[in-house]
Amino acid sequence: MFSSQGPTLRELAVQALSSTEHGYDLLAPKFDHTPFRTPGRFLTATADVLRPLGPFDAGLDVCCGTGAGIGALLPLCRERVTGVDFSEGMLAAAARSLPQPEPGGPVVDLVRADARTLPFRDGYDLAVSFGAFGHFLPAERPALFAGVHRALRPGGVFAFPIGAPQSFASPWYWALRGFDGAMRVRNLLWRPRFVMYYRTFPLGGVREDLAAAGFDVRLSPLEEFGRRADGSPRWRLVVARKA
Ligand SMILES: C[S@@+](CC[C@H](N)C(=O)[O-])C[C@H]1O[C@@H](n2cnc3c(N)ncnc32)[C@H](O)[C@@H]1O
Repeated sequence: MFSSQGPTLRELAVQALSSTEHGYDLLAPKFDHTPFRTPGRFLTATADVLRPLGPFDAGLDVCCGTGAGIGALLPLCRERVTGVDFSEGMLAAAARSLPQPEPGGPVVDLVRADARTLPFRDGYDLAVSFGAFGHFLPAERPALFAGVHRALRPGGVFAFPIGAPQSFASPWYWALRGFDGAMRVRNLLWRPRFVMYYRTFPLGGVREDLAAAGFDVRLSPLEEFGRRADGSPRWRLVVARKA
């Protein structure tokens, strides 16, 4: 699962016994060698759906980590791209890997903040987020979505990929369920908490919370990831527009 440059089992265990924020501080130098960094094909598929909705001036990557989403936003945004994350270590790794700014191209800034209390207002016309929603408890979604809504200009778009639920017949269903169960036990018994669950971000509840935050929600199938036996897409892009 990990390359030889990725974290050792011991390092992963130490990270998993830390808080979410400090766990990422520790993982940051090796994060890009783990499968947790969003793979390029998700970034490309997302950019392909968003491009016709642009052009955009300012883009925001929520929970940017080492900058996967920033790289996807740069060709879509004319003026500015901001990455926001609460892990200082991840932001430092992002800063090291940012491409050289192109003359006349968008400027990049990195902001350390908790996504549950985003400090932006009416500054962006596009926000994205990749691979981070497992770190938010369902009860925290309204604050997260309200913060993104506040950060966007009227008509601005918040977009992120979301996977279809696994069927009972799939070994992944049981693996992810087992992981979430183990995390719940860990978080009952150990402090600080490391919040990471795979099955707490279902499309139905997410749509309701986005609508309650003031978004008009549409879904775009990401066909490159194929379809399930019942014909529904394996992955969709949620495209939520601030009214
Ligand atoms: C799995 S990484 C994904 C990073 C990047 N978006 C990517 O796709 O490669 C999750 C990121 O979410 C950040 N994160 C988790 N909870 C957060 C919160 N409450 N506020 C800000 N960042 C948070 C972590 O620090 C980490 O960088």
